[in-house]
Amino acid sequence: MNKDFISIHDISRYEFFELLDVARKVKAEPEAFRKALKDKILAMIFEKPSLRTRMTFEVGMIELGGHASYLSPAEIQIGKRETVEDVGRNLERWVDGIMIRTFAHDNVVRLARTAAIPVINALSDLLHPCQAMADFFTLQEHKGDLGRLRLAWVGDGNNVCHSLMFAAAKAGASMSAATPPGHEPDPEIVRLAREDGRETGFHLELGTDPGAAARGADAIYSDVWASMGQESEREERLRTFAPYQVNDALMAEAKPEAVFMHCLPAHRGEEVAASVMDGPRSVVFDQAENRLHVQKAILLALMGKRKRHG
Ligand code: CP
Ligand code: NVA
Repeated sequence: MNKDFISIHDISRYEFFELLDVARKVKAEPEAFRKALKDKILAMIFEKPSLRTRMTFEVGMIELGGHASYLSPAEIQIGKRETVEDVGRNLERWVDGIMIRTFAHDNVVRLARTAAIPVINALSDLLHPCQAMADFFTLQEHKGDLGRLRLAWVGDGNNVCHSLMFAAAKAGASMSAATPPGHEPDPEIVRLAREDGRETGFHLELGTDPGAAARGADAIYSDVWASMGQESEREERLRTFAPYQVNDALMAEAKPEAVFMHCLPAHRGEEVAASVMDGPRSVVFDQAENRLHVQKAILLALMGKRKRHG
């Protein structure tokens, strides 16, 4: 593994499956890992709100024998109070790893470049790699062989969509995305994912028709229509994305045993109908649980054998 976990694009196919394997072991036998990160400390920088990410990193560190320290959006104020580089140069003197949730993806890259300790991307405007790892772990649990899988993305071509494309490319899965015109995934991410997936069996279809994306899928995935930081566009987005709701009619286009996925938080009646979100095919809380197990695997890979600094 590299020093940092910034994007699934950066890890090898071997490392991708290795993380899923370790996550499975950690989930099956958490007691065996009780001291794996004994006395290690993770700093958690949050420039945006969180339930799942904060709790799963904090609980994960505690269950591995370490500690986590939460820094709220008001605390650090990257770029305003001090530069991201100075934040890194301070934190590396006190802690063993940094987790950051921020707006500009470049903040994650610059922090990782400066700090001598591991940096984990816990969501940027561009990517959400920890989420996508948990999602593919969940898909493995529910569907088995990831190489035979067809995942449909319906909604905004956003950070979660981008990381799922990278994960699907590593896994050799197929993915179809339906996004409204003007809200397509970033063309550079699409290009890199296609390059990553050239020899894995990855197949990617992009379009605007939710029905076409959902047809024959093993899983349909949706996310909020206005991501954190896009609150001012919310009303306009509600109108643009209205035809992209995952409801029972859309689920009926997928395979009969298809699951519904969402990174959460979800807005019932917007991107997903309550009947789907709370229905028998929804695996959203498995995804949320699996954030814990997968992130423990990531923490172990990055911080397991590393000395603090020097
Ligand atoms: N899915 C996810 O990252 O949730 P939070 O924003 O609550 O951390
Ligand atoms: N796309 C969403 C994901 C939240 C976990 C956002 O960035 O707000």
